[in-house]
Amino acid sequence: MINSLSEFKHAAKQAIENPESFWNDIANEFQWISPWKQTLAFDFSTPEIKWFVGGKLNITENCLDRHLATQPNKTAILFEPNDPTEEAQHITYKELHSRVCQTANMLKANGAKKGDRICIYMPMVPELAIAVLACARIGAIHSVVFAGFSATALAARINDASCTMLLTADGGFRGAKTIGLKDIADEALQSCTTVESCIVFQRTNKQVNWNPIDRWWHEEIEKVDDHCPAEVMDSEDPLFILYTSGSTGKPKGMVHSCGGYMVYTAYTFQNVFQYQSNDVYWCTADIGWITGHSYIVYGPLANGATTVMFEGVPSYPDFDRFWEVCAKHKITHFYTAPTAIRALQKHPTALIDKHDLSSLKVLGSVGEPINAEAWHWYDAHVGKHNCPIVDTWWQTETGGILITSLAGVTPQKPTFATLPMPGIQAVLLNNEGDEIEGEGEGILAIKHPWPSIARTIWGDHERYKNVYFSAYPGYYFPGDGALRDAEGNFRITGRVDDVVIVSGHNLGTAPIENAINQHAEVVESAVVGFPHDIKGNALCAYVIVKDISIDKTLIEKEIREEVAKTIGPIAKPDRILVVSGLPKTRSGKIMRRILRKLAAGDDNNLGDISTLLNPEVVDEIRRQNS
Ligand code: PRX
Repeated sequence: MINSLSEFKHAAKQAIENPESFWNDIANEFQWISPWKQTLAFDFSTPEIKWFVGGKLNITENCLDRHLATQPNKTAILFEPNDPTEEAQHITYKELHSRVCQTANMLKANGAKKGDRICIYMPMVPELAIAVLACARIGAIHSVVFAGFSATALAARINDASCTMLLTADGGFRGAKTIGLKDIADEALQSCTTVESCIVFQRTNKQVNWNPIDRWWHEEIEKVDDHCPAEVMDSEDPLFILYTSGSTGKPKGMVHSCGGYMVYTAYTFQNVFQYQSNDVYWCTADIGWITGHSYIVYGPLANGATTVMFEGVPSYPDFDRFWEVCAKHKITHFYTAPTAIRALQKHPTALIDKHDLSSLKVLGSVGEPINAEAWHWYDAHVGKHNCPIVDTWWQTETGGILITSLAGVTPQKPTFATLPMPGIQAVLLNNEGDEIEGEGEGILAIKHPWPSIARTIWGDHERYKNVYFSAYPGYYFPGDGALRDAEGNFRITGRVDDVVIVSGHNLGTAPIENAINQHAEVVESAVVGFPHDIKGNALCAYVIVKDISIDKTLIEKEIREEVAKTIGPIAKPDRILVVSGLPKTRSGKIMRRILRKLAAGDDNNLGDISTLLNPEVVDEIRRQNS
């Protein structure tokens, strides 16, 4: 573990001078079935990236078996249910190991084998983490789909990866709501042909439809024992697929591999959070997102940590739920999203002060830039000016945290993610693709591979190449802009493509436009982001309809329903403007820059609009806005 600023500087220097020996030392701390023959093989032009080439391992042996000798009775997963009156569950390493092995046997008994894709569409219950690990145990590739996604979105993901099995639940609890996951899954499966079996975990005891391929989890698990040797995996075998929105077309199934992902998530978890053996670490994300994969499941468990899984929401039964849970479980590490901080900041601080937060040592932020006000509120009221805040910049594609401070070890700076992790060569580029030296602002890019970079997009390597490696040859291009201060600290300024981060969720505007365009009355639409004081960004949809005299309230409602049905409620636009045209260039390209400014209310600063094909629509939109 990096314990001091000088050790950090030393590690960063070593990682640049000799990346292979730097990563060899770190990878050697894990349990490998057989060692790798080559540390790194890569070519960004194809692109091909391989780490720990020829090494054999199983990530679950590192997350589970390895800890059985030293700490079998330590809590691995601490489950806090949605309903505060339901008892929390403390699952020890020994018990988790047993339950993962038994679940792995259940998957095998139902036909799953190495290399199969298994879709997991489950609420935040321990069995979700167990299902993920059970897949890894047998070498099946898990594809977790966030339980807030719609049937259409679920079906698209199942079909893209030709999943042969679906793990779901009768339903899930989220605050005061119950979500009928099985009903949604049933609807999705009507348009999926590859799924041969569906295992249903019982959580809500809600009556559900039953199909010939359905089996109850609690019945299937009874049929198998808990002895399940770990499948031998190649370092480069896929561990999982996780979908993320793209700026165009369908979602991208990012593929992460076993060896590099394990090494990097474990390394970053340990160093960023400075986890000590008796700490209780809580990341409030859902396992349906990369943050949950890397920093609820794999990173913490690979370090033998106690990781909290929370089923609920910050506002239920009241807006002090997070603080109540922190006090109840003596949380030491609290890792959440700026959107949650901004939402909670609106409520009286008395809601925090009634709970004892003295156990907290480290705070974290992830998913979007954290604004100064939210940062200072978090620092003062949650951290009591006594907890370092790690602002961690990374992506689904990067697998783990790339730019951050290390808690209490490297300096923090509000609104800055600060410095790249040792081993991460982050640079700023200008529009020509030249590196900017020193202070400046530009496009963020990474010059050298790190172990957990996604290896491809499932089924579409060409798209992987085009999206991430073609704009600036020789670099990985994450799609974010950044600025750098004189000390080398990075501040992420936001996306430079048509992806909008809403409440920390990465949403491509094109798929939302496609959903809106499915409405029979819609001719064309354009979706842009605009600043929102809680969500960070919200979505504004400009919509051209066939008949301008249409009932606007009704069509707005129907458009929101269409988007919720095709993608999920998180993608519903906050504002919908029915317009007679969209500002376009003479070549017919929609001027999104202008639409963004109009949505932000920044309409005095639109630049020269006289070259537009239809400048009159700008005035029309302005009038609607006012
Ligand atoms: O724009 C950046 C933003 O979230 C994007 C990645 O989204 P996703 O793949 O869903 O992963 C989110 C969780 C890692 C990035 O391209 N982002 C993430 N973390 C930060 C951030 N922007 C600023 N500061 C951050 N700490």
